[in-house]
Formats: sequence, C-alpha cells, structure tokens
Amino acid sequence: MPMASAQVKSAILLAGLFAEGKTTAIQPGESRDHTERMLEFFQVQTARAGSEVSIHGGQQLESRDFVVPGDISSAAFWAVAAAAFPGASLTLTDVGLNPSRTGVLSVLAQMGAHLSDSVDHELGGEPRGNVIVHGRQLRGVEIGGDIIPNVIDELPILAVAGALAGGQTVIKDAAELRVKETDRIAAVAGNLREMGADVEETYDGMIIRGGKPLHGARLESFGDHRIAMAFAIAGLFAEGETTIGDAACVAISYPGFSSDLETLTSAPTKRRGGEATPVITSVPDRTLEGNESGGIPEPEEPMHRAIAIDGPAASGKSSVARRLADRLGFVHVNSGLMYRAVTWSALGAGVDVNDAPAVIAHMRSMRIDCGIEGGLATLHIDGLAAGSGLTSPEVNAAVSAVARIGAVRAELVARQQSYLALADIVMEGRDIGTVVFPDTPFKFYIDANPEVRAERRRRQGIEDDLGARDAKDSGRKESPLTTAPDAVVIDTSEIGIDEVVARVLIALRERGFEFGAGEGGGA
Ligand code: C5P
Repeated sequence: MPMASAQVKSAILLAGLFAEGKTTAIQPGESRDHTERMLEFFQVQTARAGSEVSIHGGQQLESRDFVVPGDISSAAFWAVAAAAFPGASLTLTDVGLNPSRTGVLSVLAQMGAHLSDSVDHELGGEPRGNVIVHGRQLRGVEIGGDIIPNVIDELPILAVAGALAGGQTVIKDAAELRVKETDRIAAVAGNLREMGADVEETYDGMIIRGGKPLHGARLESFGDHRIAMAFAIAGLFAEGETTIGDAACVAISYPGFSSDLETLTSAPTKRRGGEATPVITSVPDRTLEGNESGGIPEPEEPMHRAIAIDGPAASGKSSVARRLADRLGFVHVNSGLMYRAVTWSALGAGVDVNDAPAVIAHMRSMRIDCGIEGGLATLHIDGLAAGSGLTSPEVNAAVSAVARIGAVRAELVARQQSYLALADIVMEGRDIGTVVFPDTPFKFYIDANPEVRAERRRRQGIEDDLGARDAKDSGRKESPLTTAPDAVVIDTSEIGIDEVVARVLIALRERGFEFGAGEGGGA
C-alpha cells in the first residue's frame, strides 16, 4: 500500500478471508487495528509483523455479541472544547481507548491540557474507559511523523485547538487529508482564516500562528462531517455568531452532535431544521456546563503540584526524588521506568529496538498501566507488576534507543502528565522540567561528574554503560537531556544526599513553594 490506511487494509484483510492461501497487507507504517482485533474476537487469526498484517483464507468466523465502544474521534470534539477552555472540566465516559486511536489525547496533553484516561475494561478486544479533560491555556505543538495515522481524523479539530493555542502549531506529513471527504487542509485553513486566524497552508499540512482572537463567520462544511463539527466547536470560542452551512453531513458519523452541543453549553444551539440545508449555529460566549459562575472563568491553577528532577544516569536523582517525596508527602514517579517497561517488553518479544516502527507497533500492542496505590506510583505491564527485569543490563543497553522514538515519547509523556490530576508528585527523568511539566516553577537538575557516577553504578553491581546512554539521551532530536533554563542545578559529586535534599528544600522555599505543617521545616 502506498500509504498506511486502516480502511484499505481492512478491505484487503476481509477479501483475504475469502481467498485461497495467505494474503498480506504491507503498509509503510502503522494504522489503526480495529479490524484485526475484531477478527480475533470472532475467532479468526491474523498475523502481525511490524506494519504487515496477514490472513489465511478459509477461516470460519464464530458468532459473538459485540458492543461498539464510544468513538474517540467523536469524543475528540468535546475533548478539544474542554481542553481549550481554561477552568473547564469534562468527563467522557465509555470511550474506546484502542492505543492506535488515542493520539489525540497525547497531542492535547502536549499542548498543555490536563488529561487522564483509564482503561476500565476490555470488551470485544477493544479497551475502553473514561477520559477526564481539564482545560488550560493551550500552547502550540508540532504534529507530524508517526503519530499522523493515529490522529488523521482528528486533525481538523486539532487545527482548531492550534488556532486557540498560544504560539505556533505545525501540522505536517498529512497530505492524505487532501483526499478525504473534501480537501481537509484547504477547508480547515480557509475556514480558520475566515474566522480571523493566521494560517498558512502547506502541501501536507498547515502552519497556524495561534492566539489571534476568532470572530464568528458563515462557513462551509464542504459536505464534510468533521469540518462541520470542528467549526461548530471553533464557534464556541469566537466573538459573534458562527453558522455552518450544509451541516446535515454531521449525521454521517455523529447524528446526536447538535443535541450534545446543547447539553454541553448553556445556550441552546439553534437548529434550523426547516431550511433546505440544515445549519448548526454556534453561539459564542457560553459557558461549559459545570462552571456555575457564568462568563469566562479565570484560568484554574493546576490541581496538583509537580516537582521536576532531571539529570543524567546515576546522578543521584532517584535517591533525591524519593527522599524529597517522602519529606513532602508527595508521590514519587520514576518516568525512566516507563521507557524501561516498553524496552523490556519489546526485548522480550524479540523486537529490534532500533526498528522504530516495530517498537511503536509493539508498544501499541502491550498494555501499560500507571497509577497510584497507597501513596506509591505503580506500573503494570500487560497486567503484571513491573519487576527487576527493568534494570537489567539488557534493558540498560537498549533503553536509550527506545526513548528517542517520538511516538514512544508522545505516549509516555501523556501518561506522565496525567499523574498531575491524581496527586502532588516528584517526577524524575530527563525532560520533566523541559517537556513534561514546563510550567512548574519547581525544577531541579541533579548532576555529578562521570567518574563519580560510574563508581556509583559499579558499587551497585549494575552493568550500565552510562557514557553511551548519556550521549544518546543528550544527542537525540526528541526531548534531549538538557538543563531547563530555570532549573536549579545541583552537583552531587562531593555532597551527600542530606545536603542535596536540604538545598532542594531551600530552593523550593525561595520559589514560593507552600510547605504543609511539618514539611521541609528542617531545611
Ligand atoms: O532514569 P533512568 O536511567 O532509569 O532512565 C532510563 C532511560 O530512559 C534513560 O537513559 C533515557 O533514555 C530514558 N528516559 C527518557 N526520558 C525520561 C526518563 C528516562 O528519555 N523522562
């Protein structure tokens, strides 16, 4: 196949079921895997290798009852509406959380929204659960590369999010958008411009310089349901009235959209059903339900605080993070363990960690559950608690190759950010202050000279080529290990842990950290 497409792949697989012998769909990248999951649920085997999927003809489907999960592509409109609305809080229930579809949540999290999603259960081979979205002032982001097939249907509404965000949003590698129901690049860019946004169309996407105030307009849907819905949401954020013409197409994927829009917003949506071409009129200045004060709410402070501890391997950041968390009653979260979990699982499955598409496919097939139990961060891989294998020499040698894959980072960063909805946290890693929680004022970079760090590992009896790992972590394109400009740098080469923690507590106080009774008093 010339491009990764779930529809084409599914058609080939279904045809292959009735063909003699083995049929293989070979895609240049991953695409969503609902068909494979459903076939499996109906007792038909498919074989996946990277982005290739094969099926043997002649297999018998067994009947099953199937419950269709809530469509995350429909939920995406509400997720963006809430995410871009500082102070809003929205829970979407029973949403399909197939990892090949949740890219939109990762992108919104990268844009600064606070999201948490939790898989409650799996039914018919599809994971499902609730998504909680807390709105913030969003920031621009680059959307391109491996994540595109995952978010392809959500790009119109993500472009709207880009227009509402501060800074620049770039959408690229998405030329396929030009051959959807309509040329979605032209439609989105044109409509956004009609509303006053600063948008430049490119052949495979667009550049949006966000933050310009939007004004209402009369817009075309171009007969495309996603364009109609995306701009109904944009209208919520515009000054004046927005009218979308020819909106009957919305029923293609979401017949209840207008009434859900009414439920979500305090002013009723005007539906002009009597007209030859139905329109949705989107009235601005309304409040999302749950905000009782009326009007635009003040941006809400994040619900919890994050303390970011970054630094190279064996710099002592784990000991510091743990001690600090204990001292403050915060939850200690080790983000490196998440990268290690993907690495460990991929190695166990015989995946070449230098083959990025294969690692991504593997990550999407595994289940990683991160949470908090009894004040401690927990990590389960395919239902099993993470074990000592995560710090094995094999994982040490391979983890940096996995951590430099953009799609892996996008997925794990979203999970790291979702902790903030749950508790006050001390999170350690490489990019916590720069990428995961760039807004926290509490950032530390814990360093030590290379000899001291190597000696620490030797004493721990752990085989770990720190130099190689640091070089890869610092030299990579995605979120390299660097010191955030506003981080407090502490070199632990010649001082003990007590002194390091004492310095951290002093710096926290200087930065306005509010200590609870008895916390940090001895610093
Ligand atoms: O912290 P730890 O040494 O266990 O992390 C293992 C590896 O995971 C690092 O060498 C790095 O490649 C990756 N990592 C990362 N970003 C983080 C945490 C860890 O890239 N926030």
